[in-house]
Amino acid sequence: MNTYEYSGSLLIINIRSLLQTGENPQIKKGKELAQIEHIDNAFIYIENNVISDYGKMDEVPSQYAGILKAKMNGDPHLHEDINIIDAKGKFVFPAFCDSHTHLVYAGSREREFVDKINGLSYSEIAANGGGILNSAALLHAASEEELYKSAMNRIKEIMASGTGAVEIKSGYGLNTADELKMLRVINKIKSDSPICIKSTYLGAHAYPEKYKDKHNGYIEEIINETIPAVAQEKLADFIDVFCEEGFFSVKDTERIFETGIKYGLIPKVHANQMGFSGGVQVGVKYDAISVDHLESTGKNEFKALINSNTIATMLPGATFFLNMKYAPARQIIDSGIPVALASNYNPGSCPSGNMQFAMALACIAMKMNPAEALNACTINGAYAMGIEKEYGSITKGKKANLIITKNIPSMDFIPYAFTTPFIDKIVLYKKSL
Ligand code: NIG
Repeated sequence: MNTYEYSGSLLIINIRSLLQTGENPQIKKGKELAQIEHIDNAFIYIENNVISDYGKMDEVPSQYAGILKAKMNGDPHLHEDINIIDAKGKFVFPAFCDSHTHLVYAGSREREFVDKINGLSYSEIAANGGGILNSAALLHAASEEELYKSAMNRIKEIMASGTGAVEIKSGYGLNTADELKMLRVINKIKSDSPICIKSTYLGAHAYPEKYKDKHNGYIEEIINETIPAVAQEKLADFIDVFCEEGFFSVKDTERIFETGIKYGLIPKVHANQMGFSGGVQVGVKYDAISVDHLESTGKNEFKALINSNTIATMLPGATFFLNMKYAPARQIIDSGIPVALASNYNPGSCPSGNMQFAMALACIAMKMNPAEALNACTINGAYAMGIEKEYGSITKGKKANLIITKNIPSMDFIPYAFTTPFIDKIVLYKKSL
C-alpha cells in the first residue's frame, strides 16, 4: 500500500509544485475552475494532521530550517516525532474528494454487464428485476460483518488510488432494517477508516418487490418509519432520491425531502441521468447540496442551477460504463456553474472508484481541462459533501490528506496517462487499517 501513515508532525521539502494553495480559497470554484494556485519549489509543515504552514523552500522559517539541519547532521536530540519527506521532482496536492459512491454492497453484477453487451439497456435490466433489486437481494442475505469487510477492501482500494474523503450511500436495503444495516456499516467505516467518510440515506433508490404495484406504500414507509429511525441513530448526513422516470417522481422527491429536512438531513439528488426528470429543479428548490449525474441538462436545468448553492456533480464513469451521452460539462462550466466530479463507485453502473479515471473521462469525453478536472475532484468535491472548510485545498488549518506524486512531467500527465500509477505516497494521519 502506498499510504504514508505517521504520528506527530511532518515536514515535506523540495516539492516541485504544491498545488491548490490559498489562505482565502473559494468554498467552490465556478468561473475560476481552470485556476490552480500553486507554489513551486515549496515546503509544507503538518502538525497532528493539520496543515500548519507552507511556502517557498528559500523562505523556510528558521524553526524548520533548524529541524532539517539537525536531521541532516543526525542530531540525536532531534525530536523523534518529526518526520521528513524529500519530495524533489514531485507534485503535492490535496487527496481526491469523491462525493458520490455506493461502495457498500454485496456480490457483484457482471452478469448484467454481459446482458448489456448483448443489447439490454440499464432501464430494461431494472424493469426485469435486475439492477438495484438484484443488489438488494444480495445485501439482504449478507451480514453486517461481511458488508463491512468487503467495503473496507474497497476503501483501501480507493485510498491507494488517491481518495482522501468519500461519500457513501445506502440504497440497496430498500426496507427499514436493511437500510439501517447499510448505514451502520457506513458508520463503522466512518470511525475505523483513516479517510473522511460522509453518509447518505438513499432509501428512495428503487421500489422493493413488495411495493412494486403500490409505490405510495414504500414512500409512506420511508417517511414514517425509515427516516425517523435513521435520524434517531444519527446514521446519515444527507438524504438522496433517484428522481427519474420509472423510479421516483418530482412529487415523491418533494415529500421525501420535506421529511428528511425536518429530521436534519441535507438533500442530494440523483438527477437527469436517463432523461429530463425535473430532478435538478427539485434539488435546487430544496437547496440540495448537489445534483448528480446530469446527462440530460438543458435550458431549464441551467436556469435553476445558475446562482444556486447547489453544485452540479458529474459521474462520467457511469456514463462511460452505460455507454450513454455525456453530461454537457463544457456548457455547464462555461455558464459559470460550479461542477464536481465523482466516481459513482457501485456494482451496477460504475464498478470503479478510481478518480484518475474519472478525471481522464472528464478530459477526454467531456472536454474539461486537466486543471478544471482537478478542481472538480478536490475543492468542489469537498463542497459537494459539505467538508470544504476542512478538505480540498492546501490551506492552514485544513486536514492534511495529501497526494505526493511520482516524478511525473506535469499535472496534465495524470488524466493523460490514465492507467499509469502516478502516486508515490498518500499522506494520511491516523490508525492503520
Ligand atoms: O448512481 N442511478 C442510480 N444509482 C446508481 C446505480 C446503482 C446500481 O445500478 O446499482 C447510479 O448510477
